[in-house]
Amino acid sequence: MSRRFQKQVWLVTGAGAGFGRGMAIALAEQGATVVLAGKTIKNLEATYDLITEAGGPEPAIYPINVLGASVTDYDDMVVKLDESLKRLDGIVHAAVRFDGLMPVAGIKPKDWAATLHVNLTAPQLITQQCLPLLDRDGGGRVVLVQDQAALDQRAFWGAYSVAKAGLAQWATLMREELENTSAVRILSVTPPPMYTALRRAAFPAELPGSSAEPLLAARETLNAL
Ligand SMILES: NC(=O)c1ccc[n+]([C@@H]2O[C@H](COP(=O)([O-])OP(=O)(O)OC[C@H]3O[C@@H](n4cnc5c(N)ncnc54)[C@H](OP(=O)(O)O)[C@@H]3O)[C@@H](O)[C@H]2O)c1
Repeated sequence: MSRRFQKQVWLVTGAGAGFGRGMAIALAEQGATVVLAGKTIKNLEATYDLITEAGGPEPAIYPINVLGASVTDYDDMVVKLDESLKRLDGIVHAAVRFDGLMPVAGIKPKDWAATLHVNLTAPQLITQQCLPLLDRDGGGRVVLVQDQAALDQRAFWGAYSVAKAGLAQWATLMREELENTSAVRILSVTPPPMYTALRRAAFPAELPGSSAEPLLAARETLNAL
């Protein structure tokens, strides 16, 4: 396996499950030290164990609930990252909230706000605070995760779908604005349907094995970066 990410440090949100866990493992397989960020410590610990048992570089665990986190929390995170790991080469924004398929008119206001916050505002706040560190050592990468199902199937995909459309526009603005001022690159990836909690919430009748295994999808995604 290639060691393309050797000596690099990557922050992965949503690293305790699904595609985020897959990306954390895939990055570690290719030599990266991964900062495992997410809200449930035991899930992050399980990802930590999978990486270390496979002989990967020791990851760091950074518990954070992006729904309640403030700019000050992200400032602290950047300071701690810089102090302990000395660099940041990339971020994968894989933390996601999905409350199930439902008509837009029926979504509770607090659920609408929370979904937009986790899926759209948090990637903006985290990226904003991390940009100077990402830029410092020659330009890092920010990876946004898109979902073709949310963009294509539209009806009933609610605030999740709206957040993904917003994320696409955010990526366009950031790319244009950073193009001549920063070496940081904003990348969007679109993994295939994967058998995760999100997918099971959208398609409860789907059988295991009929969508991709998240780690395999993550390895392919990473190879294409
Ligand atoms: N599944 C698919 O078929 C599919 C297809 C295309 C794209 N995607 C995209 O892939 C990405 C990951 O989705 P997934 O299917 O892997 O989802 P998932 O299995 O449901 O995992 C979501 C992750 O986000 C974390 N998270 C949720 N709310 C959070 C919060 N407030 N603060 C911090 N972390 C939080 C969860 O943490 P806990 O571990 O604490 O629960 C969990 O680790 C998303 O961007 C999704 O749109 C998925």
